[in-house]
Amino acid sequence: MERVVVVGGSPLRGTVRASGAKNAALAILCASMLCPGRVVIENVPRIKDIEVMLELLAGLGAQVQVHTDGKVSVEPPSRIRGEASYNLVKQLRASNLLLGPLVGRFRSVRLALPGGCNIGARPMDLHFKGLQALGATLDVRRGYIEGRAGILRGTRIYLDLPSVGATENIMMAAVLARGQTVIENAAREPEVVDLANFLNAMGARVRGAGTDVIKVDGVENLVSEVHYAVIPDRIEAGTYMVAGVATRGEVTVTGVIPRHLEAVTAKLREAGAEVVEAEDSVTVRGTGPLGPIDVRTMPYPGFPTDMQSQIMALLTTVPGTSLIVENIFENRFQVAYELQRMGARVRVEGRVAVVEGVERLQGTSVRATDLRAAAALVVAGLAAEGRTEIHNAHYLARGYEDVVAKFQALGGEVRTDP
Ligand code: UD1
Repeated sequence: MERVVVVGGSPLRGTVRASGAKNAALAILCASMLCPGRVVIENVPRIKDIEVMLELLAGLGAQVQVHTDGKVSVEPPSRIRGEASYNLVKQLRASNLLLGPLVGRFRSVRLALPGGCNIGARPMDLHFKGLQALGATLDVRRGYIEGRAGILRGTRIYLDLPSVGATENIMMAAVLARGQTVIENAAREPEVVDLANFLNAMGARVRGAGTDVIKVDGVENLVSEVHYAVIPDRIEAGTYMVAGVATRGEVTVTGVIPRHLEAVTAKLREAGAEVVEAEDSVTVRGTGPLGPIDVRTMPYPGFPTDMQSQIMALLTTVPGTSLIVENIFENRFQVAYELQRMGARVRVEGRVAVVEGVERLQGTSVRATDLRAAAALVVAGLAAEGRTEIHNAHYLARGYEDVVAKFQALGGEVRTDP
């Protein structure tokens, strides 16, 4: 999927179902390497990032099977074979989540320094600090992280920032450590909670996930057969909600946990959209008058950085001046320059973007720079007049299951360009 063509101008209408959460599934797949037997995971999205992760696990010696209906089974090896190679790791930032479970269980890991979307510096100091506090030795040599450990011992770890990845890595490493690990200023994202629930289903003792203090009491053994279903993808769901409003349409997303979408829901309501929450679905209507809003990305439960590009696409068409402050990743405004090509009036100054809504965006050729930028360009294309050609559209397949079919189901004219 190198190029996607969108013909905009008509409101999206209809219902789509959210897929399993990419970020939860990636962490859970990494955690499955802790299992002494077999793990069966349901609701795993069929996306490129998951494919790469499964290849990585297989490369380390795991038996991996992809069943129908989003079910995946993983049976880790009793000893690690090979290493997490640069070729795969460079495609997937989340491969860094193998560090915790591999050090925790196998006491040794060799992992190429991760790649992934180019949205900022994305250092790993907090991952290192946490794992080192548990007793692991980590070195970086010639682009590879080399980790070794004797017996890991639980301790108190304070994170300078509530990093999702560092919280997850430390949690996974602590599961088999001796004694209690306390993570302070832990990330509270729903995906962290989902990982904790999975670890507990495997026999771990993790408490407090979803708050800023997580306690892990080390256990000696984990159970050998686990079945687990991944939570719905709040970012994918949020993207369809925003697309519904941007096209002044009406979209229902089913199979969601509305509470996880609260920040997005609140901001859409503030902008004048109607959002109706049911038990496991949300409906948005963008048919009434819309007005400008201020958006600040923050760790959960704040507004997610992964929704910032999409909301920017929407705000370029909302009359008045909106303000977006990006507090998590410094490089996340690259999409602004592509939106400008479509006639958007966006000024970027450091971590702040000032968006002055225009009446209509104009379709043209644009280039996606990362996964969420790609999604934002589809949203913009659907709201625009005429034909938008999105280059580098392969980013979409990294994180959105059946994205073309789902937009088409809502009446969006979106197709891949062979
Ligand atoms: C995860 C998500 C990503 C999301 C992000 C923030 C996965 C696979 N990816 O990424 O989609 O955008 O959370 O919600 O779950 N930081 C440090 N040192 C570290 C680690 C992080 O300074 O050791 C900084 C980062 O530069 C960033 C902030 O902490 O500014 C948050 O990053 P983090 O929460 O770690 O994001 P990821 O886990 O990489």
